Amino acid sequence: MKVIFTGSYAESAQRSTEIILSALKKKPDLLLGLATGETPLGVYRLLIDAYREGRADFSCARTVNLDEYVNCREEDSYRKYMHDNLFDHINIPRESITIADRAAPPEEEVARLRRFFEENTVDLQLLGVGPNGHIGFNEPDEAIESLVHIAPLAKATIDANARWFADGAVPEKAITMGLGDILRAKSILLLVKGESKRDALRGLLDSTAVTTRNPVTFLHLHPDVTVIAETPPANQ
Ligand code: F6R
Repeated sequence: MKVIFTGSYAESAQRSTEIILSALKKKPDLLLGLATGETPLGVYRLLIDAYREGRADFSCARTVNLDEYVNCREEDSYRKYMHDNLFDHINIPRESITIADRAAPPEEEVARLRRFFEENTVDLQLLGVGPNGHIGFNEPDEAIESLVHIAPLAKATIDANARWFADGAVPEKAITMGLGDILRAKSILLLVKGESKRDALRGLLDSTAVTTRNPVTFLHLHPDVTVIAETPPANQ
């Protein structure tokens, strides 16, 4: 596992963007696994800049998103977030975007996405991490599902995400890639933003043990992971 401390979120976003752009240059038909939330916003802004300045071409690229809320309003969906913050500002073909449909029967969406991951391998997976160590919506638990599934959100996640919802009413379930789906990506880029992730990051960096109580530790099982964080957890 390669760990990079950058000193600032701006620098973390810059380093992450460089990794994505270099992967895209090497493989124009890159399948990029994407995250939502606050963490990747700076990266998406820099990817848009790169496209506008002619430094990136997404015309052959494909994307798949880690997760989507079940039965949320369209305006609260991760699909809308992705269009607003990235897709509508770059030249990615609409048919090259894969994200769960918030309004379709969830079991059918799970089956559709499981087929997608049987047939496709993510080249580069961008991840954030929740304060409780979740990746995607794989929450700390006794056991963690390996394939795409419907996940009840942990209370800590509902509280952490309430800031995104005008009425504070966070959906209680999401469709998420499983840990096995994440670990099958050829390479993984974990971007850690902010003080609230300190304990999860410490759990990842202080030991090579894997525990379902801190799902991000499963990244120890992967041979090609880059972690980019502002400061070591001890300094936070
Ligand atoms: C989002 C996702 C989540 C977030 C995590 C951190 O698609 O899968 O695991 O990466 O909750 O969220 P932020 O970045 O808002 O702190």
